[in-house]
Amino acid sequence: MNDTPVAALLDRIRTRRARVGVIGLGYVGLPLAVEFALAGFEVTGFDVDAAKAAEINAGRSYIPDVSTADVAAVVRDGKLNATTDMRVLADMDAIDICVPTPLRKTKDPDLSYIVLAVEAVAATLKPGQLVILESTTYPGTTDEVVQPTLEAKGLQADVDFFLAFSPERVDPGNQRFTTKNIPKIVGGIGPASTEVAAMLYAAAVDRVVPVSSTRVAEMVKLLENTFRAVNIGLVNEIALMCHKMDIDVWEVIDAAKTKPFGFMPFYPGPGLGGHCIPVDPFYLSWKARQNGFECRFIELAGHVNASMPEYVVERVADALNSVRKSINGSSVHLFGVAYKRDVNDMRESPALDVMQLLTKRGAILSYSDPFVAELLHDGEVMRSIDTPAALRQRPDCSIICTDHSTFDYAAIVESGGLVVDTRNALRDCHAPTIFRL
Ligand SMILES: NC(=O)c1ccc[n+]([C@@H]2O[C@H](COP(=O)([O-])OP(=O)(O)OC[C@H]3O[C@@H](n4cnc5c(N)ncnc54)[C@H](O)[C@@H]3O)[C@@H](O)[C@H]2O)c1
Repeated sequence: MNDTPVAALLDRIRTRRARVGVIGLGYVGLPLAVEFALAGFEVTGFDVDAAKAAEINAGRSYIPDVSTADVAAVVRDGKLNATTDMRVLADMDAIDICVPTPLRKTKDPDLSYIVLAVEAVAATLKPGQLVILESTTYPGTTDEVVQPTLEAKGLQADVDFFLAFSPERVDPGNQRFTTKNIPKIVGGIGPASTEVAAMLYAAAVDRVVPVSSTRVAEMVKLLENTFRAVNIGLVNEIALMCHKMDIDVWEVIDAAKTKPFGFMPFYPGPGLGGHCIPVDPFYLSWKARQNGFECRFIELAGHVNASMPEYVVERVADALNSVRKSINGSSVHLFGVAYKRDVNDMRESPALDVMQLLTKRGAILSYSDPFVAELLHDGEVMRSIDTPAALRQRPDCSIICTDHSTFDYAAIVESGGLVVDTRNALRDCHAPTIFRL
C-alpha cells in the first residue's frame, strides 16, 4: 500500500508518525511548530540562535502570541524540542522553512537566510522528505532558487522528494486570527508536492487552500501585502490632504466604513513598520523589474508611507509652535515605539525614524512602551519609563506613536500637555492641546 514515496508520507502524516522540522523559531516559526506539536506530531525546531533553542527546551515562550503554558506542555509531552544542530534535519519527514527575508540597503531582496537554510536541508536531503518554504519572497524563489539547490545531488522534486511554498499569513498581536484559523495557501512544485503539503497542514490548521503552483502561492502573499501597503499609502495621502482642507480624516473613515460593501477601512499613521508591509512589496517590484515591468503603485505608496515620520515631526512643530516653543531644546515623550499595538516588534518601526528626525532637530527624548524595555537610539541605550513617571516629567510635547491598549489615555489627556496623536487614540477628546495627524 505504501509503496510510493507519496503514499508512505501521507500515511505517516495521517498517523502522526511524520516528524516535522521547523527552521527559524521566530514570530512565524514558533507558533507553527507549537501548532504542529498540538496536532500530535513530534516537532523539532531549528534555529541558529542557541538562546532561542534553550528557551524552548526549558519550556518557555519568547513570542507574545505563543503562551509559555502551551510551549511547556508540548515540550513536557515530548512533542517539541529545539536544536541548533542542522544535521538532525536528516531525521525529519517534513521541513518548514521560516527564516527572515529582509531587504538590502538598496531595497533588493536579501535571500541569504533562505539560501543558508536550504543548503542545510540539501546537505541531508533524503527520498520521501517534504520541504516547504514559508518565508515571504518573490514569485520564482521556490523553483528558481530552492529547487536547484535541493536537486543538486540527484534527487528529483515531486518524484523523489516533495517541495512546496506556503505563505505565512500570521498577524502578530491578533487574538481572533491565529496560525490555527487563518486559511493556509499551499502550492507545490507538482501535484504530489501539493497533495502531501496540503495534507500536512490540514492536520494542524482549520482550512487549507491548494493552488496550482509555487509561483501562485508566492504571488498570493505579495498581493495581500501590497494591497495593504498601497491602501495605507492611499489613506496616508488622504490624511495629508484632509489636514490641508481642515477635515477630520478619522471622522471621514468612520463614516465611510458604514458602507456595507465596496469599502474597507485603512487608517493613517506615523509610517509602516514590521517585517512585512514595508518590505514585501519591494520583493515584488524587484522581480517585476527583472521582467521589464515597473510597479508604479508600490513605488508611490512607498514614497507616501516613508514620508509619514517627517509629517509627524511637522505636527510636533505645529503643537510646540502653538505655545511659542521650538523643537530645538524641547522635551518630547513618545508613547509606544513598537511598530504596532500590543506587540514587542521594533523592526522597521516608524517610531525610530520619528526619534531620529526629532533628535536631529534638537529635541530631548524619552519614551514609554510596556513591550519594549530598552532601545538603542543615537548610539545610546534608552529605557522605557511608565506613564505616571512620563507625565511627572511634564514633557513639552508627547506623541502617541503606538496605541498600546494598556496606556492610561485618560491620564495623558488629564495631564493637559501637548499631544500629537498619530493613531486617533484620543478620539473622544477635542482639547486644543491635542494635535491629530
Ligand atoms: N512576523 C510576521 O508578522 C510575519 C508574518 C507573515 C510572514 N512573515 C515572514 O516569515 C518569515 C520569518 O519572519 P519572522 O517574523 O518569523 O522572523 P524572525 O526574525 O522572528 O524569525 C526568524 C528566525 O530564523 C532564525 N534563523 C535565521 N537564519 C537561520 C538559519 N539559517 N537556520 C536556522 N534558523 C535561522 C533566526 O534566528 C530567527 O529566530 C519572513 O519571510 C517574513 O517575511 C512574517
